[in-house]
Amino acid sequence: MSILLEITEMISRNAKVALDLFPSAYSGYLMQEGKQPVIDIKSQHAIHYDWTYKHFGNPEFQKLYVKAKKGQWDADYLAWDTSVDPSNFDLPIFPEKLQPMYGTDMYRKVDRKKQGEMLHSTISWLLSQFLHGEQGALYAAAMTVEATPWMGAKYYGSTQVMDEARHVEVFHKYIDTKLNKLYHINDNLFVVIHALTSTGDWDLKFLGMQIMIEGLALGAFGMIYKFTKEPLLRELLKQVISDESRHVHYGVEALRDYYTKECSESVRRDREDWAYEVSIMLRNRFLFTEFHEEYFAHAISRDNWIKMVVESEIMSEFRISLFSRLIPNLKAIGLLSDRIKPKYESLGLLRYQDGKAADTISLAELLM
Ligand SMILES: [Fe+2]
Ligand SMILES: [Fe+2]
Repeated sequence: MSILLEITEMISRNAKVALDLFPSAYSGYLMQEGKQPVIDIKSQHAIHYDWTYKHFGNPEFQKLYVKAKKGQWDADYLAWDTSVDPSNFDLPIFPEKLQPMYGTDMYRKVDRKKQGEMLHSTISWLLSQFLHGEQGALYAAAMTVEATPWMGAKYYGSTQVMDEARHVEVFHKYIDTKLNKLYHINDNLFVVIHALTSTGDWDLKFLGMQIMIEGLALGAFGMIYKFTKEPLLRELLKQVISDESRHVHYGVEALRDYYTKECSESVRRDREDWAYEVSIMLRNRFLFTEFHEEYFAHAISRDNWIKMVVESEIMSEFRISLFSRLIPNLKAIGLLSDRIKPKYESLGLLRYQDGKAADTISLAELLM
């Protein structure tokens, strides 16, 4: 589907939300600004000061702050001397069968050496997107420290800034020293990061990063943790997941009261629609179009590639299961009303609505 058609459909669903997202969609999809090596994105948020130091907000913020101080870890102590071969089918970092082209004739025609190169590229692409998401999380965490109205959230948020810096550090180090291949940020991820960076609304920064991107990342990290046979990446992900579970929990605590008790119904509806549009973008992030360009542009058109990936049963399962951690959190903060449920159902994402939200799930369950 063309970008213009997608934007037209977005307008038909909620014109205000489409208008809010348009500058980010223009920047990412049409101007391809995510492909630039460096970029400045202006934010419109206000920095909230409280000279009384009395507005601490939800008591959970303090509990999370204490937990975060105790949960700090040093990336230097990971086993960086582990030798990693990203093309090794016997000790795969990522399962071969979860690649989008697996099982097709065009993949079967490729020799085993080239298939090994593709396996290397698949994990490099996935980890590159995690790294770019972590960079967005680092700045989003810093912005929420500034913009949030509660001192308790500012204290807690400062620990998240440190966590996210460590996540950028470990993913970059892994890519740089073990994979040696870095991909551009995916257009869809760029548009979402652009939108939550540029908005002046503190709650959209929380919603976009803490609930949507981090919720999805938690699903993705959990899946790779489960599948990977590479011990360094497995340990790295385990540590990152322990931090991310606090971050998503924090997002739920910060937004639940606001959306269910404090903001107007029209604002709540707009946020619900915003979250739905962002869900579509995040789902589209996993169409592996970069792979089409790199390896299969000669063999199949881009439209047919997208059709193949969308219709592939295993790829649909992969995309949908990434949402297993995200959907229960949307429900917990009041953004999964009966009005929006049929739309998520049509994307196949509603099956996770009864899963545990971030405020009740344990780390052991996240690592299962
Ligand atoms: Fe992170
Ligand atoms: Fe995070």
